[in-house]
Amino acid sequence: MTFGLINLGAQVLTRCHLDVMNHALRAKSMWWGHVPAGAPDVILGIRDTYLKDPHPKKVNLGVGAYRDDDGKPFVLPSVRRAEEIIYEKCLNHEYGPISGEPPFTEACAKLAFGEKSKPLCEKTNATVQALSGTGALRLGFEFISRHYNKTREIWLPKPTWFNHPQICDAVCLPMKSYRYFAPKTLGFDVDGAVEDLSKAPEGAIVLLHACAHNPTGIDPKKHEWERLSKVIKERKLFPFFDMAYQGFATGDVDNDALAVRMFVDHGHEVMVAQSFAKNMGLYGERVGALTILCGDPETTARVMSQLKVIIRTIYSNPSINGSRIVQEILTSPELMKQWLGDVKSMADRVISMRKMLRSAIEAAGNKRTWNHITDQIGMFCYTGLNPEQVERLIKEFHIYLTKDGRISVAGITTKNVGYVAECMHKVTS
Ligand SMILES: Cc1ncc(COP(=O)(O)O)c(C=O)c1O
Repeated sequence: MTFGLINLGAQVLTRCHLDVMNHALRAKSMWWGHVPAGAPDVILGIRDTYLKDPHPKKVNLGVGAYRDDDGKPFVLPSVRRAEEIIYEKCLNHEYGPISGEPPFTEACAKLAFGEKSKPLCEKTNATVQALSGTGALRLGFEFISRHYNKTREIWLPKPTWFNHPQICDAVCLPMKSYRYFAPKTLGFDVDGAVEDLSKAPEGAIVLLHACAHNPTGIDPKKHEWERLSKVIKERKLFPFFDMAYQGFATGDVDNDALAVRMFVDHGHEVMVAQSFAKNMGLYGERVGALTILCGDPETTARVMSQLKVIIRTIYSNPSINGSRIVQEILTSPELMKQWLGDVKSMADRVISMRKMLRSAIEAAGNKRTWNHITDQIGMFCYTGLNPEQVERLIKEFHIYLTKDGRISVAGITTKNVGYVAECMHKVTS
C-alpha cells in the first residue's frame, strides 16, 4: 500500500490513518471499528484468483504443497497405513504432555541429528513438539526473545521465506540480512554471505535453511556449508536452522540433514525447527518439533522447563493426531522404510519435472540458459522471470506464480509441462 501524505496543519496524516478514521466513522462495532485490515496473504491470494479463473488450461504454480501427476493432493501410502494402525488401537483423546510424547520427540531428534549424534547420546537436546514448522520457528524466536542474552539481532538470508521476517517482527526481534542469491549466476552467493556474516556482531543469530531453500531452491554445496560454519564459529554467531523440507530436496533424509549434522560435528549448539508438512504431506495436521542443543543436561532441563512455560501459555499442549502418525512411522522399521520410499518418490517426481520443463523450453529454441531449473533443488524454482514476464504469464496465459518469479515445481505435471514451457518461452523471447 502507498501512503499518500495529507498535511493538516500541525498534523501529518497518512492515507492509511485516514482509511482507519473513515472506517471507524462508518463502523457500527462498539470496540473494534478502528481496526485496520491486515495485509492479505500473497500465496492464498494467488490460490483464490486461480480458483476463480475459468480458463481450461490454467495452472497454479504458486502453492507450496506437493501435487501428484494429476495435480491432486497426495496422501502418502505410509501415512495411510499409520492411520489404519492408529485407528485399530482405539486410542483415547486425553491431553498429551505439554512438550509432546517422548517417543515422538526422540524420533524427531533422531531424524534431524542422526541416531549416533553426540548431543542425543549425551541427552543435551531439549526437543519439544511444535505446531508444524511455523509454530516451531515462532516458539524458537519466542524463546530467544525471552532468554537470549547476547546480540538480539536476527540475520536472515536475502531472500528468505516471506514468513520469517513476519515472525521475527511478531516477537520484536530486529532483523538484518546476509547475501544469499546471486542474480548473475542464479546461484548461491557464498562470498557475499561469508563477507556479510563476517561483519555480523558477536552473538547475533543466523537463520539458515537446512535444505531446499525457499524461495530460491538453491542450497549451498558441502564445501560452502563448511565456509558458513567456519565464519559462524569465528564470529561466535548463533545458528538457527529452519528444516521444513528434510527428504524433499534430494529424496534422502540423511543427505538433506547434512548441514545440521555438520554444524553439530563442528561443535555448534544449534537450534532446529522441523516440519512434517511437506515430507509426510501432513500440511493441515500442523505437526513439527523444535530442538535446542544445550551443552549439558542441567541446562537442557532448565531450557526444557522454559519451553514448556511458553507452550502452556499459548496453546497449553500440542495436538495428538498428527504426532501419532509421525511417531508410528518413525518408530516402526517397516513403516519407516515405506515412508523413505514415499519421500523419494515425491522428490523424484519434482526432479523429473525440472528436467522436462528445462528441456521443453530449450527445445522451443529459447536463447537463454535454463540450467538453473535443474541445478536448483526442492519444491521451488527461482525462474529468473521479471515482474512483467510474471504478469504476462498470469494475465495472458493463466499460469499463476509469485511476483518474484518463483514457481512450485510440484504444480507441474506431465500434462501441463508442455504448456508451461511454451508460455515461459513466449514471455522470455
Ligand atoms: C522455509 C519454510 N519454513 C517453514 C515453513 C513452515 O511450514 P509449516 O508451518 O506448514 O510446517 C515453510 C512452509 O512453506 C517454509 O517454506
